Amino acid sequence: MIMWIHPVLQTLAVLVSLYVLYLGWTRFRFLSLGHKGIVFQWKRHVAVGVFVMVVWLLAFVIGLGVAWDAWQILGVTELHFLTALFMLPLIGFGLGSGYVMDKVKARRKTLPLAHGIANALLVALALCQLYTGIIVLRDMVMG
Ligand code: HEM
Ligand code: HEM
Repeated sequence: MIMWIHPVLQTLAVLVSLYVLYLGWTRFRFLSLGHKGIVFQWKRHVAVGVFVMVVWLLAFVIGLGVAWDAWQILGVTELHFLTALFMLPLIGFGLGSGYVMDKVKARRKTLPLAHGIANALLVALALCQLYTGIIVLRDMVMG
């Protein structure tokens, strides 16, 4: 039972991150593409964005715990493990830059763009984790 917590939480967070990316995309259209009359749901983006990143971090630790419990060694899942490590600094940057832009309001272009690019990459990596995670489940946990 406990082994399902990590896959279920991460799958949920990956799906919700698509919505956060969609909200951010509306901001990108306004700031970088100059489209007019666009409403950016700022508070919702921040709240749901924080939710996604906190779940990613929490379930990351749970994944390590379950893997340690199963194999008494870390990194058995190879690509899934390495991608997760690569995601860590990006999550830190996404949360940090988002927090600064939310708390210290200013007219910005570069920081939102860096935040948007880093987080779009993060969502793509999380989708890869969904793919490799299902393979790990099939071949290493159930198999
Ligand atoms: C999966 C998570 C996230 C994704 C995919 C994401 C994506 C984006 C994108 C694409 C933009 C538009 C960037 C641009 O206009 O060039 C944006 C803006 C923004 N994001 Fe996020 N974001 C995420 C998480 C967060 C979090 C956790 C926070 C706050 C702690 C946050 C706060 C903001 C703010 C305040 C802006 C607007 C900045 C401004 O216009 O000055 N985001 N985000
Ligand atoms: C943001 C996405 C994710 C991150 C950051 C992440 C991170 C991790 C980490 C760090 C481990 C330990 C790996 C090791 O030591 O080799 C792990 C294990 C694992 N992950 Fe993920 N993961 C993510 C998404 C997923 C998804 C979506 C699934 C399945 C649908 C999944 C299934 C698994 C499985 C089956 C394990 C092996 C541990 C066990 O026995 O349950 N992961 N994950």
